Amino acid sequence: MQAVEAKGFRIPIVGLGTWSVRNTARVVEQAIRIGYRHIDTAQMYGNEAEVGVGVRNSGKRAEVMVTTKVQPTLLAPHDLERSVKESLARLRFDVIDLLLIHWPNPRVPLAETLGAMSKMKREGYVRAIGVSNFTVALIEEAIKVSPEPVVCNQIECHPFLNQDKVIAACKQHDMAVVAYSPIARGGVPGNEVLERIGKAHGKTAAQVSLRYLVQQGIAVIPRTSRIERLEENIALFDFELSEEEMQEIYRLAHRSGRIVDWTWSPKWD
Ligand SMILES: NC(=O)c1ccc[n+]([C@@H]2O[C@H](COP(=O)([O-])OP(=O)(O)OC[C@H]3O[C@@H](n4cnc5c(N)ncnc54)[C@H](OP(=O)(O)O)[C@@H]3O)[C@@H](O)[C@H]2O)c1
Repeated sequence: MQAVEAKGFRIPIVGLGTWSVRNTARVVEQAIRIGYRHIDTAQMYGNEAEVGVGVRNSGKRAEVMVTTKVQPTLLAPHDLERSVKESLARLRFDVIDLLLIHWPNPRVPLAETLGAMSKMKREGYVRAIGVSNFTVALIEEAIKVSPEPVVCNQIECHPFLNQDKVIAACKQHDMAVVAYSPIARGGVPGNEVLERIGKAHGKTAAQVSLRYLVQQGIAVIPRTSRIERLEENIALFDFELSEEEMQEIYRLAHRSGRIVDWTWSPKWD
């Protein structure tokens, strides 16, 4: 499996998203059996225990990079430390590979949260730390105050949303970009341009959307509960999009392309 490398930490370029997946343990185990080496979960998804079962049942724990995310109400150091230990207990792992701040919380100073995450890294509870849903300004602050390297920013990223500014900031600070909702939560299939480009390569629109990101060095974490789609979403390395095709897909972004937006979202770039 190809990987994106940031600050010496490797993130397999295709992972499995598990938010609201049905039969999580079975799907995770099957994904690993067919070659996935990156699984994305979060405290907020309520499925860390099932993800842990799936990973263990695959017999490949040592090869799989598992991400979990601290929920935004638990970012104060004491809460964070306790919640990470609870995540480890639910996963039944010795270590969390990649621990992210799920959403920024302006009520807790970033320096305190990243300080606590760094401490947990030094104490061996986590292997690497990162952030999610961070804007350019928040990235700059994180880089400034974090005692340990911040290796990634997990953000919404697909052909319908222009994320140029935040991607450039990640590049500038040697952070990997991990794309969530990489097939626009199912909005990609049926798009005329993506379907047409897919047809020319013998691929589906979903595969074109994922390839578009992977070809830019962006890791993707598509979610599916269907075993046959697990195969489809990882079969991205036997074709290449031309420069013209990349440009055409780039032009699909539009102002209302963002899907994930909450009252607690930061002011997007
Ligand atoms: N950090 C954050 O704040 C954040 C926010 C959102 C998501 N995430 C993470 O990112 C992961 C992925 O994002 P997402 O779940 O929002 O959306 P997504 O992966 O873009 O889309 C998932 C949807 O697409 C369908 N699908 C999957 N593969 C398909 C294919 N090959 N062809 C057609 N349809 C397909 C799935 O249905 P079936 O299950 O029926 O296949 C599901 O309805 C999440 O599961 C989660 O792990 C993180």
